[in-house]
Amino acid sequence: MHKIIEKKELAKDITRMVFEAPLIARKAEAGQFVVLIIDEKGERIPLTIADFDREKGTITLIFQKVGYTTRKLGMLNAGDLISDLLGPLGHPTEAKKIGTVVTIGGGAGIAEVYPVARVFKKCGNRVIGIIGSRSKDLLILENEMRGVCDELFITTDDGSSGRKGFVIDVLKELFTVIEKSAHTEFPALVYCIGPVPMMKAVADFTRDFGVKTIANLNPVMVDATGMCGSCRCTVGGKTVFGCVDGPEFDAHQVDFVELGKRTKLFCNQEKTINEKLTE
Ligand SMILES: Cc1cc2nc3c(=O)[nH]c(=O)nc-3n(C[C@H](O)[C@H](O)[C@H](O)COP(=O)(O)OP(=O)(O)OC[C@H]3O[C@@H](n4cnc5c(N)ncnc54)[C@H](O)[C@@H]3O)c2cc1C
Ligand code: FES
Repeated sequence: MHKIIEKKELAKDITRMVFEAPLIARKAEAGQFVVLIIDEKGERIPLTIADFDREKGTITLIFQKVGYTTRKLGMLNAGDLISDLLGPLGHPTEAKKIGTVVTIGGGAGIAEVYPVARVFKKCGNRVIGIIGSRSKDLLILENEMRGVCDELFITTDDGSSGRKGFVIDVLKELFTVIEKSAHTEFPALVYCIGPVPMMKAVADFTRDFGVKTIANLNPVMVDATGMCGSCRCTVGGKTVFGCVDGPEFDAHQVDFVELGKRTKLFCNQEKTINEKLTE
């Protein structure tokens, strides 16, 4: 059992929870995730470890209430218990000093990109953050991202915060400025997490410039041990499993069209169970 130590609503439908999980906190690294099960009948959902405190023995999860389990989790409060947290899972981010790193997070993906930006900064890189959401009331972790980025750009679809538009617009502008400059080099790495169309747009754009790009994929996961196959993705023409081979992959090699289709695999079941919660 794991106790919820803190709960905070960060934005509309986005909640931050701190859990007691000393064994996970001891080993967690940026880029890794846990599988969470609320109770004995609960499904398994993967959530990125947004933060951890080895001394206090806690981990922080930030989740968007999109369906049955995340909405049920959002109904719990500090002091409540959940039955299982499994992790840390997945390969940690391979962070070292490489120069300039552009980290891009869209929607709830901002929670996932924050620890990555922080670890690249900690390694001595110049970190440029680009975060985007549909509107200001959905934007999260602006201050935290400012704290770990040398420069931070914000976009909202409706222009209610930062510049109006999409994260890819800022990336394109940055690259245009670099192209025209005799002194500035292209970043050593672009790292993106967010909706599939956003990651595909980033990968398609950076491919032409030959700039290494990592996408942190969110395929549907069930067992998260490499056994069930539900998180199967195609990367560089080969079958890989997001849970054990990822979740980070060379974005230029990812078949995003297939990934987009596979994330909708259980749409009907998700809809049916979701309706139960609202009945
Ligand atoms: C490695 C990884 C890390 C993630 N980290 C975060 C995070 O930090 N914050 C966050 O808000 N979300 C994160 N997600 C997505 C999160 O797991 C899903 O939103 C959650 O499982 C939805 O469950 P649900 O029952 O509430 O909604 P459902 O109604 O079941 O599903 C809503 C949508 O979520 C996706 N989804 C459903 N079940 C799963 C599943 N088991 N695995 C993956 N995706 C699923 C589907 O695309 C679906 O359309 C992560 C996913 C992965 C794979
Ligand atoms: S979640 Fe089952 S193989 Fe990855």
